[in-house]
Amino acid sequence: MHYFEYKNNQLFCERIPLKELALKFKTPLYVYSKKTLVEHYQKLKRAFKELNPLICYSVKANSNLSILKILKNLGAGFDIVSGGELYRLKTIKAPPNKIVFAGVGKTEEEIRSALDYKILLFNVESLSELEKIDKICRKKNTIAKVCLRYNPDIKVSTHKFIRTGESETKFGMDKKTILQILKQRERYENIKIEGIHIHIGSQISEPQNFVSAIKKAKELIKKINMPLKYFNIGGGFAAQYDFNEPPTLAQDFARYIKPLLKDMKLKIILEPGRFIVANAGVLITKVLYIKKSFKKRFCIVDAGFTELIRPALYSAYHFISPLELISTKDEYQEYDVVGPICETTDFLAKSIKLPASLKEGDFLCVFSCGAYGMSMSSNYNSRRRSAEVLVDKDRFYLIRKRETYKDLIRKEMIV
Ligand code: LLP
Repeated sequence: MHYFEYKNNQLFCERIPLKELALKFKTPLYVYSKKTLVEHYQKLKRAFKELNPLICYSVKANSNLSILKILKNLGAGFDIVSGGELYRLKTIKAPPNKIVFAGVGKTEEEIRSALDYKILLFNVESLSELEKIDKICRKKNTIAKVCLRYNPDIKVSTHKFIRTGESETKFGMDKKTILQILKQRERYENIKIEGIHIHIGSQISEPQNFVSAIKKAKELIKKINMPLKYFNIGGGFAAQYDFNEPPTLAQDFARYIKPLLKDMKLKIILEPGRFIVANAGVLITKVLYIKKSFKKRFCIVDAGFTELIRPALYSAYHFISPLELISTKDEYQEYDVVGPICETTDFLAKSIKLPASLKEGDFLCVFSCGAYGMSMSSNYNSRRRSAEVLVDKDRFYLIRKRETYKDLIRKEMIV
């Protein structure tokens, strides 16, 4: 599933020993494997081939310009949620006719810049938003193409914080609102309603969840009874975090989803983020201290929730392993791997087994950090955001410099 592998007890990313990168670029450090990234994109493309979908990579998962450029060159489109993400795409000259724009709180400025760039579709999440886009278009004398985001109100088996297709969540619109909008669509002269969008959540490993949502959306589409062009089924395909568990493969999702869509005569859009990029990235961190306190053994490392917030926010599990294995007979001990931030939730893993011989100065690798790792990082505790490195076979490239102390105060004024 990925190209981070041990050779002679040394952890490599493709053909580069990760220790070399840790020493050269310092830690905490994000490292990406190009081959893993490309292969995950291709796995999805292949699995859904018969549908010939437009795959709009979800920029929020990882928005580094070099990552975006690789995906652009593979032919991917993009799913954005802000003017900032659009700005990134303009920077890499992403084709506008493959960009879709979701989010419940699009500002006038963001809507205008997306219209100026002539993106493919807005995924509209409320009646008020639709009215706003219509009004802006009237002033600009242009037409916006939109999909209406439908909230199918279904239960999905993923962490509560990342479910988006249940009635209690802020996302999308209920059936009644959508039918109402369509009934009075003549009112929105500068809007062309071209499709339906759903996105039910993230890290969904149960293909059945997609089936339920798609079935409900199909019922709605049938009811709408007007010509549509697009059906956007969102993202959410799970990535692998626990390597002892069998992953849900792209073809597992496709096997369930394809039969529901192939007779539809609509252009299918997918918005995967995590599936493409999660396993392509790792976070390298250095052991600062080993500390025993009461009955616990803490491994204090130089990365914390400023670098990777997923464990703190969603109790997410990330596999952690040393860059160098001493010997296969090494004894293991239980540790909490924690960061330097002054918060109790600052941990990367709890009660995991690591070699008893682990010592200060050793490096650890936190796996499956390519998605929602760097893109959710912060400057809390006035910490500098990490550097990012991309590995391509036996070459590596710095794709983001580590922030400096100067960067931290650049925008501030002393009054
Ligand atoms: N489309 C829309 C409208 C979305 O809101 C999202 C993610 C995606 C696509 C991509 O979902 P993916 O394929 O990556 O699951 N920070 C959380 C995940 C939040 C996902 C937000 N929306 C985490 O680290 O688990």
